[in-house]
Amino acid sequence: MRQRIVAGNWKMHKNAEETEDLLNELIDKIPTDLDQRVIVAPTFVNLSAAADHLEFTPIEVAAQNMHQAEGGAFTGEISAGMLESVGVRIVILGHSERRAYFHETDALLAAKVDTALKHEMEVIFCFGEELKDRHAGQHFNVVENQLKDGLFHLEASAWKNIILAYEPVWAIGTGETASPEQAQEMHEFIRDIIRKNYGNTVAEDVSILYGGSVKPENAAEIFSKPDVDGGLIGGAALKSDDFTKIVLAI
Ligand code: 13P
Repeated sequence: MRQRIVAGNWKMHKNAEETEDLLNELIDKIPTDLDQRVIVAPTFVNLSAAADHLEFTPIEVAAQNMHQAEGGAFTGEISAGMLESVGVRIVILGHSERRAYFHETDALLAAKVDTALKHEMEVIFCFGEELKDRHAGQHFNVVENQLKDGLFHLEASAWKNIILAYEPVWAIGTGETASPEQAQEMHEFIRDIIRKNYGNTVAEDVSILYGGSVKPENAAEIFSKPDVDGGLIGGAALKSDDFTKIVLAI
């Protein structure tokens, strides 16, 4: 069954105290009887505390990244097993900021996905074209290649742990959102190529989130599109009122 999901990617924001404050506000404001899943992704150093804090609430916690190796001499990195050990069962992989600033390639991301799935974690897999790709009319190709190279080596059964997040790079943190029609057009395309590769059940069951300048003002219209199953929220996830409104807009 396809799930409706709103996830907040906190990026490199919120120290320990601010994390606790924001979590407390979200626990107060977000109703506990929702059908949609609500996920927050604080920074690594605050994940353990966040997972403890959220343990008896419906809000789930995700990591923003992880290393593909099980362990070893990788200074500064975090493994899937370490995330599991503090109660984190979801990881965001392939964010455009990881691809652009930390040179994460499709091949590396495919390896990270495999490691996360081996640990039975859920993966929120991000992808999306840059503005130059869209201007060149290459956006569908770019997205198809990112999916093919990052995910299409998986068996159909692995897809139950995959959540897709289409984030056009030109819409991230820019205040410029893809129009609901542009989002729907791409999400429908994504679902179609999954259908071609994996069949109807996988295509219909996978949740495809939209990310890029989602705000309380535009969330409901974007979420109303048939192939948009929720959102991955950056800036607006840092304010409890805004994030709560977006959660309730779905
Ligand atoms: P903004 O909502 O700030 O545009 O960020 C989107 C994003 O990158 C979520 O991962």
